[in-house]
Amino acid sequence: MTAPVRVNNPLVVNVELAERSYPIVIGRGQVLTLGQRIAAMRPRSKAAIVTDENVASHHLPATRSALAGAGVNSTCITVAAGEGSKSFAVLERVCEGLLDARIERGDLVVALGGGVIGDLAGFAASVVRRGLDYVQVPTSLLAQVDSSVGGKTAIDSRHGKNLIGAFYQPILVLSDTALLDTLPPREFRAGYAEIVKYGLICDAEFFAWLETNAPEVFAGGPAREHAIAVSCRMKAAIVGRDERETGERALLNLGHTFGHALEAAAGFSGRLLHGEAVALGITLAFAFSASCGLLPAPVAARVARHFAAVGLPTKIGSIPGGSPGADTLMALIAQDKKVRQGKLTFILARAIGAGFVAHDVESAAVRAFLEEQLAAR
Ligand code: GLY
Repeated sequence: MTAPVRVNNPLVVNVELAERSYPIVIGRGQVLTLGQRIAAMRPRSKAAIVTDENVASHHLPATRSALAGAGVNSTCITVAAGEGSKSFAVLERVCEGLLDARIERGDLVVALGGGVIGDLAGFAASVVRRGLDYVQVPTSLLAQVDSSVGGKTAIDSRHGKNLIGAFYQPILVLSDTALLDTLPPREFRAGYAEIVKYGLICDAEFFAWLETNAPEVFAGGPAREHAIAVSCRMKAAIVGRDERETGERALLNLGHTFGHALEAAAGFSGRLLHGEAVALGITLAFAFSASCGLLPAPVAARVARHFAAVGLPTKIGSIPGGSPGADTLMALIAQDKKVRQGKLTFILARAIGAGFVAHDVESAAVRAFLEEQLAAR
């Protein structure tokens, strides 16, 4: 998985949002260019890096020296790793830390980490001094292809995940693919589920390319960078057309309704990582689409086969520690998506590459489908 780190020409994808447009820069060794890029965009600014303990131990020294090398002074706020840091208490610590460090408008927040750090630091940036600019430096595959792009920032509430937040776009996303070399293979695999998602939503050719090239994507090198860039291009296009999820951005939630319910039932724990829940959720969304007569069963089987081929879960029964029952799952789905007159909103598909938002899914049909899946486990 490891190849020597050198800075090669990056791939660049633009998120087009008029005066809030920004580039996503993708390539091995790109973190080494962070200081130069910040100095060019915001001369004489200083930076506050928000990161977690795990990421700090791997990547903080290189990030700080990249900043120092370009004359950018930095300070660092380190929080505990894990979803628990998306809390009011940790948000308060980050906001006060930014003020203690005298980060002013014109300075920058750098979110160095996975999805939790991006969400937390981005939200802190949106509220401190009524809005500071921030840069995303995603260090997980999932963050590089999904959460760092598109400006969704949030912390969790006791009422649910991501319920307190803002749409607040970064000014730059710097995705250094060499940072993924230190990811545990299980986490890399979980992030890969989000890459597959893009092919399934809107690009059948990309899905077919992944079927052939997944081993190269896992191995690193140009195939990995290509897969990340294609994913970012698709997300950027969707966000450019529907920043605030009034329509098509919801397609990015393919697999997330079943997935969130399974993740919640597993206690948001190491039993089922988010990306694993997404792989399982997408498999279920395609199987459900087949059971509704929207697509032939072999198409759903093809999707499951690809996830299984890379070692992602495709069966509810495969969740370690026991699978939840249909009642639990239906209660969690109802909480997540609010049932209206017995109808649910789901992302379903008419083919590979043809996802759509279905607003009128009968909850009785979902329950019957889940009971069938659970009986077959
Ligand atoms: N992760 C889904 C979105 O950004 O809309």
